[in-house]
Amino acid sequence: MPPSEFFSHLFCLLLTCNFLAVHSKMLKQFFAIHAQIGTTSSTAVDPLLELGKIAKSNSIWFHVDAAYAGSACICPEYRGYMNGVEEADSFNMNAHKWFLTNFDCSALWVKDRSALIQSLSTNPEYLKNKASQENLVVDYKDWQVPLGRRFRSLKLWMVLRLYGLEKLQAYIRNHIELAKLFEELVAQDKRFEIVTPRKFSLVCFRLRPPPSNEDYANKLNHDLLDSVNSTGKLFISHTLLSDRYILRFAVGAPLTEERHIVGAWKVLQDEAATLLSKC
Ligand SMILES: Cc1ncc(COP(=O)(O)O)c(C=O)c1O
Repeated sequence: MPPSEFFSHLFCLLLTCNFLAVHSKMLKQFFAIHAQIGTTSSTAVDPLLELGKIAKSNSIWFHVDAAYAGSACICPEYRGYMNGVEEADSFNMNAHKWFLTNFDCSALWVKDRSALIQSLSTNPEYLKNKASQENLVVDYKDWQVPLGRRFRSLKLWMVLRLYGLEKLQAYIRNHIELAKLFEELVAQDKRFEIVTPRKFSLVCFRLRPPPSNEDYANKLNHDLLDSVNSTGKLFISHTLLSDRYILRFAVGAPLTEERHIVGAWKVLQDEAATLLSKC
């Protein structure tokens, strides 16, 4: 880099730092730290306690997204993944993902509702009423952009009443056991590898690359996904982790049983064998 370019970059950096220092208080209001319990791609879990402390010491909003894996935290043995959640300003889980509630129903918790109310409240004459003015009701219109909202909590209430805690825990545990079974089947087959440690009911795996041909592995796994899904017997999805094409096997349907897992694995093995025989 020529010196002039170097100094112009340095100048820009100093200017940016100065700007950030002056406006950091203002800027902090625009930023949030967003941690996940169960990322979409591979269900990884962020260290909430550490992130929460950073957020707190910088007065930054700390949101925890547990859209899918929040459901598992109804079981005491998985609650450890939530350690540090007490630092959160807001927390979300989607009951429509893994909690037997029909689409859509997301539960959002906020530590301090006043931040939402200050930003979103509206109080025209035609909305005024005795119950609101005497603070007898929570006006959710002040927590969101639209005024109206569907009665989604009714679906969740029905699920909670119908199943109860123990049955919901058994439901989650069963899916995790089934995913463990799938993981064990994959691990026993030397042609495959488990790519990330399984935490919940998602297994990330792939066909191992042929010796010293990592690039080819992506195409191979892509082809395997296509051929498995074209059988119509099961549906798997994929992701990219560190540029590697990874297959995702998720257990989440209420009627899935062990025989479906074993059957799915057989389809995967058969399709893999056909593909590998062409290599
Ligand atoms: C961790 C996480 N957050 C948020 C979402 C978004 O979910 P939805 O669009 O159903 O609200 C997903 C979807 O898969 C997710 O896995």
